[in-house]
Amino acid sequence: MPYPMTRMRRSRATDFARRLVRETRLAPDDFIYPVFVLDHETAREPVPSMPGVERLGRDPLLAVCEQVTAAGIPAVALFPVIEASLKTDTAEAAWADDGLVPRTVQAIKQRFPGLGVMTDVALDPYTSHGQDGLLDADGRILNDETVAALVHQAACHAAAGADIVAPSDMMDGRIAAIRERLEADGHRDVILLSYAAKYASAFYGPFRDAVGSAASLGTGGKETYQMDPGNRDEALREVALDLDEGADWVMVKPGLPYLDIIADVKGEFGVPTFAYNVSGEYAMLKAAAANGWLDERKVVLESLLSIRRAGADGILTYHALDAAAWLAE
Ligand code: PBG
Repeated sequence: MPYPMTRMRRSRATDFARRLVRETRLAPDDFIYPVFVLDHETAREPVPSMPGVERLGRDPLLAVCEQVTAAGIPAVALFPVIEASLKTDTAEAAWADDGLVPRTVQAIKQRFPGLGVMTDVALDPYTSHGQDGLLDADGRILNDETVAALVHQAACHAAAGADIVAPSDMMDGRIAAIRERLEADGHRDVILLSYAAKYASAFYGPFRDAVGSAASLGTGGKETYQMDPGNRDEALREVALDLDEGADWVMVKPGLPYLDIIADVKGEFGVPTFAYNVSGEYAMLKAAAANGWLDERKVVLESLLSIRRAGADGILTYHALDAAAWLAE
């Protein structure tokens, strides 16, 4: 029925009506807070390209976990800053039982048993060349050898008590291999969250500064394993394979420039779908807000809401603590 019988603005005319017809809402329950972890007891260091984000030693990290818990955010995701002296071509430090990640998982789970702890399964913090995989003599990524290393890493994280292991490397076949090992080790309830559709994106720049992999990577790219930004159908194939291989949840990354992919994945599979609102997305809004060009609170909440509206069940976001505080007001 056309105008004037239908007036779309009737439902927008009042606050009460707008609240009643709102289709998507944000809540602290929707967030996972990514944290950068330093191998130190008390240190904290700012990340210049991510204002408001710090690399955290154990004590300040536990203090942040306290804030996360109090804010009602369900989980944190750990990203280690590995000392250059521990990086090798073959990344053995990635599965050392006394490594930074397993020690951090244990410390958090001991103090905050109810807080979800997610770990990143990928070799880039541990390789001297900054790639997520192992290289052959010609510098090509060795898929199957890398998968074997990722299996050790995921098993090490699960043994330390990680609730969610999240392979972010984009090697073929790693989900099946990791799932099989977790089952064999008796880690039946560890959630496998696959970065299933992860694109070769320039929006990861500030993250690579934060963990110190930018220097190792140099001019090297990741386009032989991360997806081409022009591809959409391929994301559905990636997700289908990872679900078949035993992923519980899947992720699309980055978030805002890839809302079409989030909508496709959620619409096609209806499985728990996560989006990573990555470091470059964070840096853009922080920089514009610092210049007085955008209202930080409004654009952050609108961006996160838009990612949810596209179909994401949950969002990894560096804005999580701020957004949770704003939502609580
Ligand atoms: C590494 C990894 C990256 C991010 C999460 N895990 C960077 C990369 O693939 O180079 C990026 C996160 C962000 O930009 O916030 N496996």
